[in-house]
Amino acid sequence: MAKIGFEIIGTGHYVPGEPVTNHDLARVMNTSDEWIYQRSGIRQRHYAPDGVGPSDLAYEAAKRALESAGLTAKDIDYIVFATMTPDYVFPGSGALLGAKLGIAGTPALDLRQQCAAMLFGLQMVDGLVQTGAAKTILFVGAEAHAGFMPWKDWGALDPKNGREASIEDKTKVDKHRNLAILFGDGAGALVFRATDRDAGLRGMKLHSDGRSAELLYVPGGGFRARPYWREDSHEEEAHIPRMDGRELFRFAVTKLPATARELCEEHKVGIDEIDWFLAHQANRRINEYIRDQLGVPPEKLPSNIDRFGNTSAGTLPILIDEQMRAGNLKRGQLSMILALGAGIHWGCAFLRF
Ligand SMILES: CC(C)(COP(=O)(O)OP(=O)(O)OC[C@H]1O[C@@H](n2cnc3c(N)ncnc32)[C@H](O)[C@@H]1OP(=O)(O)O)[C@@H](O)C(=O)NCCC(=O)NCCS
Repeated sequence: MAKIGFEIIGTGHYVPGEPVTNHDLARVMNTSDEWIYQRSGIRQRHYAPDGVGPSDLAYEAAKRALESAGLTAKDIDYIVFATMTPDYVFPGSGALLGAKLGIAGTPALDLRQQCAAMLFGLQMVDGLVQTGAAKTILFVGAEAHAGFMPWKDWGALDPKNGREASIEDKTKVDKHRNLAILFGDGAGALVFRATDRDAGLRGMKLHSDGRSAELLYVPGGGFRARPYWREDSHEEEAHIPRMDGRELFRFAVTKLPATARELCEEHKVGIDEIDWFLAHQANRRINEYIRDQLGVPPEKLPSNIDRFGNTSAGTLPILIDEQMRAGNLKRGQLSMILALGAGIHWGCAFLRF
């Protein structure tokens, strides 16, 4: 039986509010534009306002993706929703999005593979079309990281308010500053449709290793504790993720090029036969390193981290939307998707457009 393919027929993204620059961050912690840009390639990011969750951001991105596909929400027969910052501990955000889109009743699956969610999402989409369970699938990655940012005085971020956080507050925030500079909020949405064309997932190497889970994790809010949210959790700043940035950096720059090479060898595809390398954007230096290791020309590995920071599950769909709208990703072209996220989950996939 011939393998059923899938193609991207619509894309959209949404980021909330005005950008918050590195200069703005320097009013709530001891940092500088120079430090952040040199170490990460980030200049600015967006934050979801208080009361706005990932399903709200996803709704805006999904509307744009449906419009670009020339479809209405009623045409969607399955939702795959990826986020590590869900609206609620449970239930997941997928069903909330379905309700917001006016298609309550449509099955909605939640993925929690953090920055590696796009890879697992592609595998799900492939499985859904192969089994005939769905034909037109909405995949959304959306994050509202603002809820775990370590400062209290959000007003100090806005230059119009003309104030800085106190020295004491800034010093408290410094403990988390390597984490706080990286993450930004936003959503990306892709509409996939089954096709008999040679398109879709064309190979994948995927890994998960829970031994390294504590390289990036949230210590509070888990159900090992009774109750799962304790009075002293706030005092311990248990809602703020703990991140070993150096070790994650090392993990990414060793595992991702090795996995990419294995995928190429397995499918007998040369690096130069790949049109695009679409990589998760956690740090520009990680992607430059991968590029150099694999011998990929810079123009084949697009970057948008300077404008959005790391939007976790949102990153790859946002990048794909931008590249589609710019007319860069063309029918028939072969891309390699590369991602690594907390878990640790990582891998590479061939996606043909
Ligand atoms: C976070 C990251 C940019 C930090 O860069 P780094 O070079 O590893 O920096 P370090 O955390 O080792 O800190 C180096 C110094 O800068 C300081 N520092 C950390 N954050 C800072 C900031 N925002 N501004 C100024 N100084 C900062 C540290 O306190 C440390 O000072 P010390 O040497 O006096 O102790 C980098 O480790 C990274 O991007 N790692 C990957 C993270 C990742 O991919 N996460 C998501 C996975 S999906």
